[in-house]
Amino acid sequence: MADPDPRIVDALRAAGCVFAEEEAALLEAEARTLGDLRDMVERRVAGEPLEQIVGWAEFCGLRVVVSPGVFVPRRRTEALVDLAVAIIVDLDKPVVVDLCCGTGAIGVAIASREPSTELHAADLDPAAVACARRNVTMGQVHEGDLYDALPRDLLGRVDVLAVNAPYVPTDEIALMPTDARDHEHRVALDGGADGLALHRRVAAGAAAWLRPGGTLLIETSRPQAEGTAAACAAAGLAAGVVVREMSTLVRAISAGSGSSGTMAR
Ligand SMILES: C[S@@+](CC[C@H](N)C(=O)[O-])C[C@H]1O[C@@H](n2cnc3c(N)ncnc32)[C@H](O)[C@@H]1O
Repeated sequence: MADPDPRIVDALRAAGCVFAEEEAALLEAEARTLGDLRDMVERRVAGEPLEQIVGWAEFCGLRVVVSPGVFVPRRRTEALVDLAVAIIVDLDKPVVVDLCCGTGAIGVAIASREPSTELHAADLDPAAVACARRNVTMGQVHEGDLYDALPRDLLGRVDVLAVNAPYVPTDEIALMPTDARDHEHRVALDGGADGLALHRRVAAGAAAWLRPGGTLLIETSRPQAEGTAAACAAAGLAAGVVVREMSTLVRAISAGSGSSGTMAR
């Protein structure tokens, strides 16, 4: 493949793109016309996420459609997929819910590795729901506030609740890079005053939807992990923090067969 146009590389680098050469090559490959390319470079220089410009992101080796305003799935979230797959790998027709699904990347990645999965994805933001409906071809997508979106026949049946809900403290949104701050809907970022508002609500409602011994997996951050785990424990779940190279998660198991108070780290 020819080297990307150095003028485009320079423009992207001047705008702060760390991987300017790779981004320039991708934009050149994705643009259908020179006019397209000019427009895409301008959008990137103005701070729009690359994934929203080209319309897709790579996640767990898959191409996931990303629409304007919808949260771009992050590489660190792939650890949540790995944990979920390890839990369901030996189950027959496992039931997985991707709550706060955004593009639906988490659920799609899980179901692509365990095709017998009964997958449900849900989000409050209509733009995210529309985007998830393009990605989740092997499951159902629901719209609404957390558990209100889910069909009632899932109560007590869910093997894994996979959740990457917003967890940025409200005051810290202003400190985020412009890609996220200005181009991802605020509802995708804002976790309330301490960042844990959604985690508390997710934890409080989880036991009713999980089967006995079912697992809630929540992505969190290092500083917030103990707070997320405490919210799960307060809801009667056996919770522990799991630290991976790029990510921090809480794994919380509902009471019943197979649950244990001791958590592997
Ligand atoms: C941090 S993004 C994560 C998206 C996706 N899970 C991922 O990892 O790429 C959080 C998502 O939660 C959704 N959300 C925020 N509040 C919600 C609520 N009360 N009920 C359902 N979804 C909500 C947002 O619209 C957004 O899509």
